[in-house]
Amino acid sequence: MRFDPATDGLRGSLRPPPDKSISHRAALIGAMADGPTRISGYLDSADTRATLAAVEAVGARVTTGDADERGGLFVEVEGAGLRGARPARIDVGNAGTLLRIMPGWLAGQPAGEWTLDGDESIRRRPVDRVIGPLGEMGARIEGADGRLPPLRVTGSALHGANHQLPVASAQVKSCLLLAGLLAEGRTTVHEPAESRDHTERILAACGAELSRSDHAVTISPADRLESGDVPVPGDFSSAAFFLAGALVVPGSEIELGEVGINKNRIGLLAVLSRMGVEMDRRGGSGIDVHEIREPGPEPIATLQVRHSGLQGAEVSGEEVPALIDELPLVALLGCFAEGETVVSGAEELRLKESDRIAGVVEGLGGLGAEIEARPDGFAVRGTGGLRGGTLDARGDHRLAMLGAIAGLASRGGVEVAGFDSVAVSYPRFGIDLRALLRV
Ligand code: S3P
Repeated sequence: MRFDPATDGLRGSLRPPPDKSISHRAALIGAMADGPTRISGYLDSADTRATLAAVEAVGARVTTGDADERGGLFVEVEGAGLRGARPARIDVGNAGTLLRIMPGWLAGQPAGEWTLDGDESIRRRPVDRVIGPLGEMGARIEGADGRLPPLRVTGSALHGANHQLPVASAQVKSCLLLAGLLAEGRTTVHEPAESRDHTERILAACGAELSRSDHAVTISPADRLESGDVPVPGDFSSAAFFLAGALVVPGSEIELGEVGINKNRIGLLAVLSRMGVEMDRRGGSGIDVHEIREPGPEPIATLQVRHSGLQGAEVSGEEVPALIDELPLVALLGCFAEGETVVSGAEELRLKESDRIAGVVEGLGGLGAEIEARPDGFAVRGTGGLRGGTLDARGDHRLAMLGAIAGLASRGGVEVAGFDSVAVSYPRFGIDLRALLRV
């Protein structure tokens, strides 16, 4: 798929697709609850469809309505109950979040066996990070070579534990919190830095007892979860592509509506502010965040974004989890910034849908960027633009989107290779991005 330079700038308003992380969690926690959970704006994508199929396989009843304009489905999940999951083989497809979170629920079932497996690429993604700590709670869980899918889970009695995660991960934390609901005694998860807290927010809305302090969350066992309504906000990680595009393509002015602004997800905004982007200066260049409201467990807002000059910045340490999926975009922004942009402490990027450090460095390097890989990140020297060329997305949707935005901002256009998608146009932008976002 080819993306030509957007010579007139990006202009228009859109509601980005619904949040993927929240969609997975709403379906899973809905399946654990008693009664119906109504999810409005469930992301219609391959990964999140795998989660609906998974909860159906274990006994939840799922009814889906039509999709809205942003690709959000109305979904009703009639729960199987906290201890009511029935044995199944589960195909997670390419969904790492499903693969890592669901075993927490299954491991604490009174009896039964489950297998979780997926596609070629998921079989290369480590699951020892959940096998180890679940094992400490008494779970019976095995992977291939102890570290890769398929995962085999046998339901058994769990006991609460005090976990210290070596690396911040919302997937691992969520898995352990779900197991904690079924365990005897309390479970605490400490993280070196705060990761996204969508699971905690939905669980609290379902009546779970949680207490939170700096970098730690404690959950108490429960007999049941209540069901309710979960509105899914627009995905900040999807909005971020449009936002970055508007910042670097001259003449751009876009409005992104109903975007989730959970503080653990919007680390990119703080980095952009350090890169010299004006925040909340109505009418000028930069980004305005307005119409902030909280219609459900998550806060949302409208973002107004205008083209802006950029300076290089450093991203490291504790702030990494709050923009882990946006780091490829930081590399792109760095190409357009004055000076150097350096990302460190982000070795986790090597374990995503693809090795995103190698993918970003080779991908943008092939388009003319002055970028070098580091073991835990990358360094980019801004040259004011990108020549263009071909970017190999390595089957990774975020790299495909990176290539698409790079093409709009480049001098010569970008061909995105290595990613299958059906082109669905987003007419107001005249670009074919929507299908790429729905993965
Ligand atoms: C996710 C957490 C992050 C993120 C991924 C989705 C989630 O991964 O990169 O895209 O929904 O919990 P980790 O938990 O591995 O950091």
